[in-house]
Amino acid sequence: MTNTNDMLERRRKLLGSAYRLFYEDPVHLVRGEGVWLYDADGRKYLDMYNNVPHVGHCHPQVVEAICKQAATLNTHTRYLHDNVLDYAERLTGKFPDELDTAMFCCTGSEANELALRIARVATGGTGVIVTDFAYHGNTKATFEISTSDMPEDEIPDHVVTVPFPDTYRGPYLGDDAAGKYAAHVHEAIDLLQSRGIKPAAFVVDTIISSSGVASPPPAYLSTVADIVRDAGVLFVADEVQPGFGRTGTHFWGFESDGFVPDIVTLGKPMGNGHPIAGVVTRRSLIEDFSDRGRYFNTFGGNPVSCAAALAVLDVIENDGLQQNALDVGSHIIDGLGQLADSHECIGNIRGSGLFLALELVSDKANRTPARELTHRVVNDLRQRGVLTGSIGPDANILKLRPPLVLSRDDADYLLTKLDESLSSCVGGSLFS
Ligand SMILES: Cc1ncc(COP(=O)(O)O)c(C=O)c1O
Repeated sequence: MTNTNDMLERRRKLLGSAYRLFYEDPVHLVRGEGVWLYDADGRKYLDMYNNVPHVGHCHPQVVEAICKQAATLNTHTRYLHDNVLDYAERLTGKFPDELDTAMFCCTGSEANELALRIARVATGGTGVIVTDFAYHGNTKATFEISTSDMPEDEIPDHVVTVPFPDTYRGPYLGDDAAGKYAAHVHEAIDLLQSRGIKPAAFVVDTIISSSGVASPPPAYLSTVADIVRDAGVLFVADEVQPGFGRTGTHFWGFESDGFVPDIVTLGKPMGNGHPIAGVVTRRSLIEDFSDRGRYFNTFGGNPVSCAAALAVLDVIENDGLQQNALDVGSHIIDGLGQLADSHECIGNIRGSGLFLALELVSDKANRTPARELTHRVVNDLRQRGVLTGSIGPDANILKLRPPLVLSRDDADYLLTKLDESLSSCVGGSLFS
């Protein structure tokens, strides 16, 4: 049996207080397989939270690729090696022709940091426009544009926010919401210029996940792309969350709007848990960047990471996981729609493929966020063997973002547990 209190005490002593754990009753996981996680007491949990183990926890093909390469050679990108070339070729093959060059690093933060550096060289500007309540990383430059975590009064002058395109609760709800939200980018450009700052980049997570999987309305991203391009600003599509087929309809989030960004950043699911991330962009932008100096990343793009990433692409393609995301995601959306008939607290269901959000409200007509209820449901689901989490400015949105190998049976398990949980958590004083 796990002694949770002992572990908590050791953690506090050894790691300090900046690390946060999930759940009032933290989970001590020891093993994972597919969409299932197992704790130290042998209890199993359906993993509806983790998008990093994209093709399933401990996928044998990825594990084998890592082990085989680790047992042969691991160095870095200053020697010739086929893996980094094979992977760059396979990866860029997944993009429109213009996006033909890849650079590798270890985390999504590093990928966004590199994108900002490339954009600054290309435009000669330093200004960055982001959606409010965004998250783009933990380095200094990327934390400054992570408006979900950065205290508002500490956001530097070179960072300007625009409202995220919330079509459930935001100021613009009708057919022309995309254009109205996009128009804020004009104001952001003007504001930067009025501060004497030349804008360099518009950075956006193309499913707008940290704001609550806002799922931009059709034509929002492409309208913004037109606006920023006219102003000489680069469009950076942060695909760290939606990329690699998760949204089901497309391989990349930006493709849903039929335009080509200037720079795309990648991370989380790329190596199924092995740390690999990257930037894909046009060769000319990399050449300008390269004129200013070299790029080296000790671990980024090493042969073992690339072996893992190649295996991930193989599994996505061979096992039809993008299609599975679409099929099982639609099945969950249907099931959630049925639950909404009997659970008044379900205010909105949105998302695409296996990146879904369930917005809980205490008053459907006024769409009042049910923060406390959501907290209870997340913790209650954990006790019922389903791991999920909450997101959004009011922390009232259940985030459903499992490995792409989730089956319809697994989805039915989720729906049954969610039904039980909502029934048990809603009622009397709990419903707030
Ligand atoms: C949209 C987005 N971009 C970038 C990052 C940063 O990635 P990492 O934690 O790998 O540095 C995250 C992490 O959650 C993210 O959600």
